[in-house]
Amino acid sequence: MIASPFLNSPIKICCIGAGYVGGPTMAMIAKQCPDIQVHVVDLNQARIDQWNSDVLPVYEPGLDDVVREARGRNLTFSSRVETAIRESNIIFIAVNTPTKSFGIGAGRAANLEFIEKCARQIAECSTGHKIVVEKSTLPVRTAEAVKRILNSSAKDATFDVLSNPEFLAEGTAVQDLLQPDRVLIGGESSEAVERLAQVYGRWIPREKILTTNLWSSELSKLTANAFLAQRVSSINAISALCEATGADVDEVARAIGTDSRIGPKFLKSSVGFGGSCFQKDILNLVYLCEHFGLREVAQYWEQVVIMNDYQKRRFSERIVRTMFHTVSDKKIAIWGFAFKKDTNDTRESPAIHICRDLLEERARLVVYDPQVPEKQIRSELEACFQDSNGRLSETHKKLIETNVSVVKDVYVSAQEAHAIAVLTEWDEFKTIDCGRVYEEMRRPAFVFDGRNVLDRKAWLDRGFEVHSIGRPGVS
Ligand code: UDX
Ligand code: UDX
Repeated sequence: MIASPFLNSPIKICCIGAGYVGGPTMAMIAKQCPDIQVHVVDLNQARIDQWNSDVLPVYEPGLDDVVREARGRNLTFSSRVETAIRESNIIFIAVNTPTKSFGIGAGRAANLEFIEKCARQIAECSTGHKIVVEKSTLPVRTAEAVKRILNSSAKDATFDVLSNPEFLAEGTAVQDLLQPDRVLIGGESSEAVERLAQVYGRWIPREKILTTNLWSSELSKLTANAFLAQRVSSINAISALCEATGADVDEVARAIGTDSRIGPKFLKSSVGFGGSCFQKDILNLVYLCEHFGLREVAQYWEQVVIMNDYQKRRFSERIVRTMFHTVSDKKIAIWGFAFKKDTNDTRESPAIHICRDLLEERARLVVYDPQVPEKQIRSELEACFQDSNGRLSETHKKLIETNVSVVKDVYVSAQEAHAIAVLTEWDEFKTIDCGRVYEEMRRPAFVFDGRNVLDRKAWLDRGFEVHSIGRPGVS
């Protein structure tokens, strides 16, 4: 039993950043700990308004119920950052850390601008003792910088800094938060680590709460994402060989995945991985390795991203090549725009790259996604055509306006289409009436299944020419 007064005083939590990580994580803490006040703050007032409304900014199965239970009881969303910092004794930082687009390390290093601003603001508003928790994924030894900023700018406060990376995956966030494989807490002060462990310990078995030093915790998050992404790139590399040789990548994945040393997860070949984390974190790892002079290690990990770019490019090239080497003025139905199913997130979605390649070939695209709004689809496409100064040429602007339409009905997307490209593995695509789709389409009716979700035999029997990932095309 620990008798420290610091450990026994009531916990009040604040989280800076109400995004895909901050929002769901804090909602789960508030749900599981009704006696702990949890205040989530964000600079973006529109996002806060959404968290306070019936339509949350993040689509996650089960999240509505979690938020509804705790909001108004012990869970608050607001833009009152200073008040929230002042009133809490555990402060999570969950702001985004995008890849730097300028200056030293551009295209690789993490942009830590928001982290530094948060640390300065925490230092300015704090009194007494606070625990500052890095929730955002950060380069190793960022905690050192955070500590220095806090301690040098603080007027009347002391701090402990902890690293507590989040391992939730989008689409399964609620389940991942409810029953995580592990919770990782890195820190120097055992009292501070214990204090945070007590919060998670309310619903997570203690043996699943791992404690490490700060640097191991920071590096473990980068390493976990790098290993997961590496598995996807490994099976995607094999998918290219399958297409060339007549092997079937899903059969190969099943055969190797039953080896308990390899395991079955993260072996689903696809059009490429997306999401806000994998690419960013690997590039970050590569940058760190280069910084420490570890050139071979950097090259090894960079290959995971190179393979992913190759997989996306290969898919769009296959579409063009198969459709008689031209898709100009042809209508292609794009099924799915999110980076994976069960999320409305489109960050780094492979769909963006495929659509860009097809638009460059002057195809006409009709996009259907059950969760991503039209505005977001258009803004992602505009962003991918911008030059390094953020400018969008008139030609590209017009191309998107005239050649992209977004529809709310999957069957409508197939009307008069020359081809369908499945880019997200939404469950509803598995049960589509392929006969009805076939009647709507031009002939030959091409299908490019970038996620291998369609019932291939049924679609082939119906008369489609089906091109799956990691299998030779069949008509
Ligand atoms: C998280 C992590 O924090 C990131 O490091 C990880 O690699 C990916 O997941 P995520 O929650 O997905 O980021 O990001 P996002 O949905 O963009 O949310 C971040 C929020 O922080 C935004 O709502 C943004 O408005 C807010 N923010 C950003 C602030 O409130 N203050 C800032 O200074 C910067
Ligand atoms: C990932 C990590 O899984 C999570 O632990 C971390 O906290 C954040 O980054 P997320 O990006 O939300 O989570 O989703 P994830 O399920 O990992 O998928 C990432 C990408 O890989 C998606 O585009 C997905 O479609 C793709 N993928 C995943 C495959 O192509 N094949 C697979 O077998 C698995």
